[in-house]
Amino acid sequence: MSLNKAVMLLKIIFILTAATSIQGKVYHPSYIDEASTFASSSEYDYIVIGGGTAGCPLAATLSQKYKVLLLERGGSPYGNPNVTQMQNFHISLMDTSPDSPSQPFVSTDGVINARARVLGGGTCINAGFYSRASPSFVKSVGWQEDFVNDSYRWIERQIVHCPNLAPWQAAVRDGLLMAGVSPFNGYTYDHVYGTKVGGTIFDKSGYRSTAADLLSAANHTNLRVLLRATVLKIRFDQSGSRPKAVGVLFKDENGNHHLASLNVGEGKSQVIISAGAIGSPQLLMLSGIGPKSHLKAKKVPVVLHNKFVGKGMADNPLNSIFIPTKKQVKQSLIQIVGITKYGSYIEASSGFSQSSKSISYHHGIMSAEAGQLATIPPKERSFEAISSYIEKKVKKKIPIEAFRGGFILSKIAGPNSKGHLKLIDTNIDNNPEVTFNYFSDPFDLHRCVKGIETIAKMVHTSHLLNLTNDDDYSMKMLLNISVDANINFIPKHFNDTSSLEQFCKDTVITIWHYHGGCQVGKVVDSDYKLLGVDGAMVVDGSTFLKSPGTNPQATVLMMGRYVGVKILRERLGSEAGV
Ligand SMILES: Cc1cc2nc3c(=O)[nH]c(=O)nc-3n(C[C@H](O)[C@H](O)[C@H](O)COP(=O)(O)OP(=O)(O)OC[C@H]3O[C@@H](n4cnc5c(N)ncnc54)[C@H](O)[C@@H]3O)c2cc1C
Ligand SMILES: *[C@@H]1O[C@H](CO)[C@@H](O)[C@H](O)[C@H]1NC(C)=O
Ligand SMILES: *[C@@H]1O[C@H](CO)[C@@H](O)[C@H](O)[C@H]1NC(C)=O
Ligand SMILES: *[C@@H]1O[C@H](CO)[C@@H](O)[C@H](O)[C@H]1NC(C)=O
Ligand SMILES: *[C@@H]1O[C@H](CO)[C@@H](O)[C@H](O)[C@H]1NC(C)=O
Ligand SMILES: *[C@@H]1O[C@H](CO)[C@@H](O)[C@H](O)[C@H]1NC(C)=O
Ligand SMILES: *[C@@H]1O[C@H](CO)[C@@H](O)[C@H](O)[C@H]1NC(C)=O
Repeated sequence: MSLNKAVMLLKIIFILTAATSIQGKVYHPSYIDEASTFASSSEYDYIVIGGGTAGCPLAATLSQKYKVLLLERGGSPYGNPNVTQMQNFHISLMDTSPDSPSQPFVSTDGVINARARVLGGGTCINAGFYSRASPSFVKSVGWQEDFVNDSYRWIERQIVHCPNLAPWQAAVRDGLLMAGVSPFNGYTYDHVYGTKVGGTIFDKSGYRSTAADLLSAANHTNLRVLLRATVLKIRFDQSGSRPKAVGVLFKDENGNHHLASLNVGEGKSQVIISAGAIGSPQLLMLSGIGPKSHLKAKKVPVVLHNKFVGKGMADNPLNSIFIPTKKQVKQSLIQIVGITKYGSYIEASSGFSQSSKSISYHHGIMSAEAGQLATIPPKERSFEAISSYIEKKVKKKIPIEAFRGGFILSKIAGPNSKGHLKLIDTNIDNNPEVTFNYFSDPFDLHRCVKGIETIAKMVHTSHLLNLTNDDDYSMKMLLNISVDANINFIPKHFNDTSSLEQFCKDTVITIWHYHGGCQVGKVVDSDYKLLGVDGAMVVDGSTFLKSPGTNPQATVLMMGRYVGVKILRERLGSEAGV
């Protein structure tokens, strides 16, 4: 064969491989199967529900010694550029089809939000920023610190990278320092006061590592991973004094139902729910565990009354200031964080993309189409309202240049404000009704005001002014947009607390760090075992009382590993080998 022919052949092979990978369905590691391939003859030591941020490291760890079934309702992240490429961040969030890796929901507060629906969970659709929780958080949860550090390191070795700092992020770093959020702590995963560069799950080329990659560390003889396997309910044996989990009922990609059974012989097997802060309380209720009167109203047979299921739901509010720039700035998600003493975290994102098909007002994590440009007050927001708004007002009245630039955002720690989750119907594919009650606690509102004040200071620092190229350009442009399109882009008065409070309420959106619903001490015990029943646990963000660190994924990933190792050590002692 001539060299030319060989090159041609290689090109054809490359194109064919690329084509199969684009379909997403076909290309994934051999240990992952479609749900319909399930044969019910086996029994499992652990059935993990939800192949997300906590579920993947947990299943990988348990499979070292035990037989594990991991059931994920979504598809594969592999070969799907909407998931794997950083520049496509907003595409998944905007894709509302049933196959999308992101399932949108709107809370009763009127804030558009998203849930992961893909193997790897939130790590496949998130902004990638990686930062550990503070030692005081670790202590408050009652985790063992050295062993927490080992578990963080296990995650970091496999999927965490050092970012290529984008110019926008460097300007934000300098602005934070000038606004008094100091000292500069350099590149670190640690939660320390001041400004720092954090880790990221995107590599230097913008390719996303995910929790699904952690499954490559599993013992594949012992692990079965099924995609498009939606768990409908957990099955309990109710013949004894306490209900005892014996298996789960799930449907496959064709809608056929299957029963997966626990190996109940030794009495140590567990169904572990890691379906996320919306999915876990929803699935518990659909399985008959929750507030009795609510379950009865929805005609769900009650297995165990627990009024706390679905309570303590919280979402950290995000408020941001948009900073138009004369020149286009490179896209960036989150790379820098300012950790303030008053309890707000300041982060930033930037970018702008305009495709031939649709104009996308996309600024890193802020995207108009995904409802992240808070142009409409919360109660009036809906997907329809936002798209009609973009068509009628934004595209017609606002010059596209006005959307060049970046955002600086403030997220409050905690938060203190709490809400709840209820079933709307008994279809697991539908979202439940979720209420977060943003800013119902005055301390949350106070911290938002402090955060916006810090951002106002940053905007006037020379580093950011250098990016806008003109002292007044940003402010003039913002005022122009605000007047022309009646957009609440900037507070009317930066020095007036009541004006800033109103701004916080009007422009609240989400940073997607919602948690709660199956809280420790109320729904699970401190070992994450479901209270009042045997053989079931909940391990994910739904168990938290507050969101960990500046951004939660590091700690949710760590938790999956931590609980897995703890179980192995408790059952096997030194033979656990971990
Ligand atoms: C858009 C976005 C941006 C974010 N940015 C960041 C960031 O930059 N940094 C950061 O630290 N955090 C970020 N987060 C938050 C972080 O990703 C989440 O807090 C975290 O992933 C939650 O993990 P989890 O294990 O609790 O849930 P998930 O990771 O959501 O896992 C739950 C899994 O369970 C599956 N599931 C649910 N119900 C069922 C069922 N009935 N049967 C089978 N499977 C089911 C779901 O499909 C999902 O895969 C972001 C989140 C989003 C959505
Ligand atoms: C990526 O998203 C686009 C837009 O929603 C969609 O049309 C396309 O099918 C998605 N690609 C994959 C591989 O899912
Ligand atoms: C764990 O790591 C943190 C920093 O991330 C450090 O402050 C702490 O001392 C470590 N603890 C132990 C017990 O190693
Ligand atoms: C994986 O599990 C199988 C079955 O339990 C066991 O025989 C094998 O030794 C394990 N492999 C490793 C590398 O631990
Ligand atoms: C702003 O830009 C000018 C000219 O490019 C440069 O000399 C100056 O150092 C920059 N200032 C800051 C604070 O980055
Ligand atoms: C804002 O609008 C005024 C009046 O239309 C115009 O003169 C000015 O140039 C605009 N400013 C910017 C920054 O676009
Ligand atoms: C806000 O107050 C500061 C000092 O308290 C002052 O320097 C600044 O000019 C004021 N800004 C506005 C917009 O009133």
